[in-house]
Amino acid sequence: MFSLPKNATIIEVGPRDGLQNEGKLVKTEDKLQFIAALQQAGIQEMELTSFVSPKWVPQMADAKEIVAQTKKVGRQFVLTPNERGINAALESGAQSLAVFVGVSNTFNKKNINKTTEESMEALKPLIINLKKQDVFVRACISTAFYCPFEGAVSQEATLALCRQFVEWGVDELSVADTIGMANPKESYELFANLVEAFPDVLITAHFHDTRRMALANISAALQAGVTRFDASAGGLGGCPFAPGATGNVATEDVVNMLHRMDVQTGIDLDMLCQAIEKIEPHVTNPVTTGMYTLYKNQA
Ligand code: HMG
Ligand code: MG
Repeated sequence: MFSLPKNATIIEVGPRDGLQNEGKLVKTEDKLQFIAALQQAGIQEMELTSFVSPKWVPQMADAKEIVAQTKKVGRQFVLTPNERGINAALESGAQSLAVFVGVSNTFNKKNINKTTEESMEALKPLIINLKKQDVFVRACISTAFYCPFEGAVSQEATLALCRQFVEWGVDELSVADTIGMANPKESYELFANLVEAFPDVLITAHFHDTRRMALANISAALQAGVTRFDASAGGLGGCPFAPGATGNVATEDVVNMLHRMDVQTGIDLDMLCQAIEKIEPHVTNPVTTGMYTLYKNQA
């Protein structure tokens, strides 16, 4: 039987993953208006920005202002790659942090200039310390299925990395198909194993939509018991250090699919499209996702 939960949670990653790869610098005030409109649409969990090196990701250079000027609604994440980022994020008032590591060494080196092992060694004391301070920690696991440089990634390697994070006390694992290559069978198998292995941790699926399989992968992850999905309004985004990766699955298309199956998200689809209208003039490419296109044609 096709089993579905009554509710699912969307973690909106548009202001972070959606914009980090945008070549044209978006003004802080335009990002803030986008974030406010997303909140009005009912988004309760959001990645706001990243405290990363502005030399590596110039678009995120205004992280401090973004955190300071965003109204506190629900759970708001900022990405932090290292101790410096963690300290800056906490000083700016961030209460929930996301750390990120690639299962694949080559990708991790290109993304954070460390091998996976070096990253994990550095993160261990930092995470243990954050949990002593009762900070919510989300661990983002990149290249959980495929790596743009190394190819297929074994499920065992992904599960082993996740297990380390769980042992250090993280609250959430956001497990990512960074280059949008996984298929629904792989999605079901990995997420079923994650849900079974880590029952006390929030398990979130993060799909990029490069090969247009993200909605099918979400449907498979739902069957595996996942109820939390990262998504980016307008399908914006991608990782600048993952060649060929396009944007995340579009929030409006995920919300539509879930609502059509009577899985509630608390998000108003029209208001979500209004939020996309706010950011669309400031990004390079027009938004062509299914539900946003329908919304524009109706208007
Ligand atoms: P590095 O060059 O090895 O570090 O970069 P460093 O310690 O030598 O520092 C280099 C410069 O950056 C120095 O400045 C530091 O002070 C500064 P300089 O002396 O040259 O003027 N610096 C910082 N500045 C601000 N905030 C900091 C910070 N740390 C150092 N936190 C580093 C290492 C990690 C900094 C760099 O590689 C970096 O910033 N990487 C970020 C990459 C990134 O943001 N990737 C995208 C996010 S992950 C993602 O999208 C995947 C995800 O969506 C899931 C999925 O889809 O797979 C989550
Ligand atoms: Mg991503």
